[in-house]
Parts: sequence; C-alpha cells; structure tokens
Amino acid sequence: MTNTPIIEAQHIGKEVTLGQETLTILEGISLQVKRGETVALLGASGSGKSTLLGLLAGLDLPSDGEILIEGQPLSGLDEEGRALLRARHVGFVFQSFLLLPTLTALENVMLPAELQGERDSEARARELLGKVGLGERMNHLPSRLSGGEQQRVAIARAFMSRPSLLLADEPTGNLDSRTGERIIDLLFELNREQGTTLLVVTHDSQLAARCERRLVMNAGRLQESAA
Ligand SMILES: Nc1ncnc2c1ncn2[C@@H]1O[C@H](COP(=O)(O)OP(=O)(O)O)[C@@H](O)[C@H]1O
Ligand SMILES: [Mg+2]
Repeated sequence: MTNTPIIEAQHIGKEVTLGQETLTILEGISLQVKRGETVALLGASGSGKSTLLGLLAGLDLPSDGEILIEGQPLSGLDEEGRALLRARHVGFVFQSFLLLPTLTALENVMLPAELQGERDSEARARELLGKVGLGERMNHLPSRLSGGEQQRVAIARAFMSRPSLLLADEPTGNLDSRTGERIIDLLFELNREQGTTLLVVTHDSQLAARCERRLVMNAGRLQESAA
C-alpha cells in the first residue's frame, strides 16, 4: 500500500508523579515499524516495555513526543478518536486478559466482531479457539479456565478482528512450552497470511529469534537492536 510506517514513535517520554517525586519511566524513544514487519521488544523486567506498549496502543498518552498510527498523530485525537483508530487497526494481548466474566470463552472471542456488526462471527471464533487448543473449552466461563487458558482466549479474541497491527505483551509468558509454540506459530501464520504486523514483548528467545528485528529496552531507553 504505502510506505507510511504502520506505527511510529517520535521522541516519546513518560513521566509519572508520585507525591513529590517525578519518576521517568520512558525517555527519548523513537521507533518505526513497517507494515508486515515482525519485531520483538526485549529487556529486563521494569525497563518500561509494558508502558511503551500501552502508549503505542493509545491506551495512555506520553508526557513528551508523538505517536502515529497509520500516519495519524494520536495527540490530535480525543479518547473516542483513539478508540476508533484502535478498533480499526490494532489488536492486543496484554498481561491482564480482561475477559468478560459472564461470557463464555466463545462469546468473549465473538464479542469484538459482534460489536462491529459482523455476522457469522461464530464459525471464525470456533476456528480460532480450536487453533489455540481450546476446542473443548469453548462454553466455559473464564472463572473455569486456568490462567494459561484465559490467555489463549485473549489471543483468539485479538485475532478475531484481523488487525493490521498486533501488540502483544509476553503472549507466551504463562504458557507451557508446547502451548507457547502453538501460539507463536499462530502469530506468524497471521503475519504470513494476513500481513499482520507484529510487535511482541517477550523473554522467549525462540520467539525473539523468529522476528525480523529485535529492539531492546534498558532503563526506559531503547538500545541499539540486538543481533
Ligand atoms: N503508573 C505507574 N506509576 C508508577 N510507576 C510505574 C507506573 N507504571 C509503570 N511504573 C514503573 O515503570 C517501570 C517500567 O514498568 P513496565 O513498563 O511495567 O516495565 P516492564 O514491562 O519492562 O517490566 C517500573 O519501574 C514500574 O514500576
Ligand atoms: Mg511488562
């Protein structure tokens, strides 16, 4: 389509104020991700990876700098505008799964498509739940699923809307290695078949190695990418 990066951060910083103190969580972060690219975001615990992902998703605003999704500056949009842009382009898998407790696994996965007025979402939701290994658990409520199973429901849900950009925060973090591999395969299948851009926070060296590019966070700053 175009050469506009699907997502771009320009010199972003994030500060939080705690009582009298101002804490710098992110500083001087610039990055560009091209359409269809696969990028791993690495770094020690506490280095700011989740904060950065939240900003890139437009869930929170940076203290400095600008974030552009599909060339659109997020600062020029109100909360509703950011929500619309997100709904159109971005899927995410965060560490808190945010499943709705009164809906079954299947209903949770179908919900984003239903909200967008898509009919026939059930067949695709069933297919995705099968792919994450939950074919037998579709009618269970989240409270009856393990943490890893809930995570897989959240992953199936993120795939449901065929996002052009998928932001994932340690998507294999709570999973056993076999299930983790299955999820990784699914991420790259999505990338291959639908051109989905992947930006994935991970400690999983196998997942990082499969990405085209690796970025490393260190104490709120972006290092030169690792090999
Ligand atoms: N809302 C907040 N208020 C205060 N400190 C925060 C807040 N959010 C994150 N932090 C701090 O910022 C740092 C980076 O956090 P985070 O982005 O979660 O790191 P990572 O995901 O790399 O482990 C940590 O030291 C964390 O305690
Ligand atoms: Mg984190």
